[in-house]
Amino acid sequence: MTDLQPSTYTFGDNDLAAERLRLLAAAYEPTSRAFIGRLAREPPRVAIDLGCGLGYTTALLQAKTGAALTIGLDSSPRFLAHAWRRSPHAVAFAEHDVTRLPFPAPPADLIYGRFILTHLANAHATLERWADGMAPRGRLALEEVDTLAADDPTLTRYYALVEAMQAARGQRTYVGRDLCTLPASSSWRVERADDVPIALPAATAARLHALNLRTWRSDPFIAATVDAAELDDLGDALDDLVAGRRTAAPVRWRLAQVVLRRR
Ligand SMILES: C[S@@+](CC[C@H](N)C(=O)[O-])C[C@H]1O[C@@H](n2cnc3c(N)ncnc32)[C@H](O)[C@@H]1O
Repeated sequence: MTDLQPSTYTFGDNDLAAERLRLLAAAYEPTSRAFIGRLAREPPRVAIDLGCGLGYTTALLQAKTGAALTIGLDSSPRFLAHAWRRSPHAVAFAEHDVTRLPFPAPPADLIYGRFILTHLANAHATLERWADGMAPRGRLALEEVDTLAADDPTLTRYYALVEAMQAARGQRTYVGRDLCTLPASSSWRVERADDVPIALPAATAARLHALNLRTWRSDPFIAATVDAAELDDLGDALDDLVAGRRTAAPVRWRLAQVVLRRR
């Protein structure tokens, strides 16, 4: 896949996907709130939320930075319809493929994105392009996956399949690991990079994954490489964790929180 092809979101935008994003927003709210809170020295004029989904991150960005205008961009009109319904004052949304520049927004002092680079093929080329949407010396704040780990074999298998499926699409599940060391030729320099633990009960993680599996099990790579019976078993094993018929140790996830400054 080249970075010029339209980007499709691996995890879909149906009702299950929306439900998963609600759960995801709840799981990550405390860490994202703290991260965004540390960014706001003075309110930006314009803040952009890349891949805003249902707008939870956009509302948080607005609330914690006090930006005069906060704009959420997403390629899914269905997610954006949800986002508009619950949008606070000084927040707007636009349908846009964030791999394409210019953004339908004024140059931003602060651009934020949570779990967006991981869904883009050729993430590094797109990262460089984002510098063009930024006001001079503006900052790009990203929260991306560094690690998804667990002791339970069902969860481990799930993570391996997600990583393989994303790789087949030219995407990198653990793109957060790449962000703390950028080449000297990059338009960005790393201002701050942290790697924070996210401890969730296995049942909560399994609930997120069970919703997701129902969406991506029909992905062409998965359909061609994984037996349908194995996917059924995986779904059942995740449901068992959700329902408490089986227990497992909390998952060990790590989130990269990175602040980049435009050179
Ligand atoms: C995992 S969700 C994250 C949503 C939100 N940032 C959050 O953390 O709650 C990824 C979002 O990126 C959007 N997305 C994926 N590829 C995109 C693209 N090329 N342009 C714009 N949005 C995209 C999806 O529609 C989805 O809403």
